[in-house]
Amino acid sequence: MKHFLNTQDLSRAELDALLAQAAAFKRTPFGNDLKGRAIALVFFNPSMRTRTSFELGAFQLGGHAIVLQPGKDAWPIEFDAGTVMDGEAEEHIAEVARVLGRYVDLIGVRAFPKFVDWAEDRQDKVLRAFARYSPVPVINMETITHPCQELAHALALQEHFGTTDLRGKKYVLTWTYHPKPLNTAVANSALTIATRLGMDVTLLCPTPDYVLDERYMDWAARNVAESGGSLTVSHDIENAYRGADVVYAKSWGALPFFGRWQDEKPIRDAHRHFIVDERKMALTNDAVFSHCLPLRRNVKATDAVMDSPACIAIDEAENRLHVQKAVMAWLASQAG
Ligand code: CP
Repeated sequence: MKHFLNTQDLSRAELDALLAQAAAFKRTPFGNDLKGRAIALVFFNPSMRTRTSFELGAFQLGGHAIVLQPGKDAWPIEFDAGTVMDGEAEEHIAEVARVLGRYVDLIGVRAFPKFVDWAEDRQDKVLRAFARYSPVPVINMETITHPCQELAHALALQEHFGTTDLRGKKYVLTWTYHPKPLNTAVANSALTIATRLGMDVTLLCPTPDYVLDERYMDWAARNVAESGGSLTVSHDIENAYRGADVVYAKSWGALPFFGRWQDEKPIRDAHRHFIVDERKMALTNDAVFSHCLPLRRNVKATDAVMDSPACIAIDEAENRLHVQKAVMAWLASQAG
């Protein structure tokens, strides 16, 4: 049984087919691909785009979505095996996933890291436990990667450049300031998909501490070897922006500081100038700009950048709907 946990698990043919199907759903939104089917959307963290686009997508394909928020409107769940469950959790994932699998045909999971211990968070325990116990396909709605965002981003770039072949484009993934240390998921994902599509990728971040986890750096290196792109890490803003075709912004916390964020804060605060602004965009090759959203204006990117014709963040957000319909339809058809 196929799950949709990371794009790296997909063959290139599967990735291309999902993007093509998403483009087809964008042209023809309604279908019967999920007729009589249901998806449980399990949210451990807030969402605007993901929740709306999955619920609407299921509806547009004739299916039904049920949102569950464990610890809020559903019982808190235990994920570790062999635990004496005398704490907050009222039931174990072994029962939750199996019971949901008797009701629904797909399960979506959003579970961010706890931001205390990266060694623990990088195991992606919640998503992995759902995938282990669920009798139906599981979809990653953002854990330590965000594969649905990757597909939406890739489709938006293909639309912008008018081609599915993005090889040779200079792609800058830039860290930006945010008052809080955020999840590395979208950064991991941007690095993964941009290298997969053969672009010349620069990871621009304040210091070596902000380089992403070795798993994703390794994926990117492997992708570059296969796709013919390139991967460079830079801490030099002007060099990174110069000649860029794509600027993708995201803020994230530095991995070595998990659990001691008070020590990371002064470093983060000293790099507010990483904001995406008109001066930096002027160094580019008339680059397109995007961000996964939500975005704090005039902190991560200026009003002028967000309101410029170069900004395709709204197109990318719209594409979440189309790509997730492609993912749901694909998994439902595989499951029979
Ligand atoms: N980009 C994204 O996943 O948005 P939400 O957090 O609103 O779902």
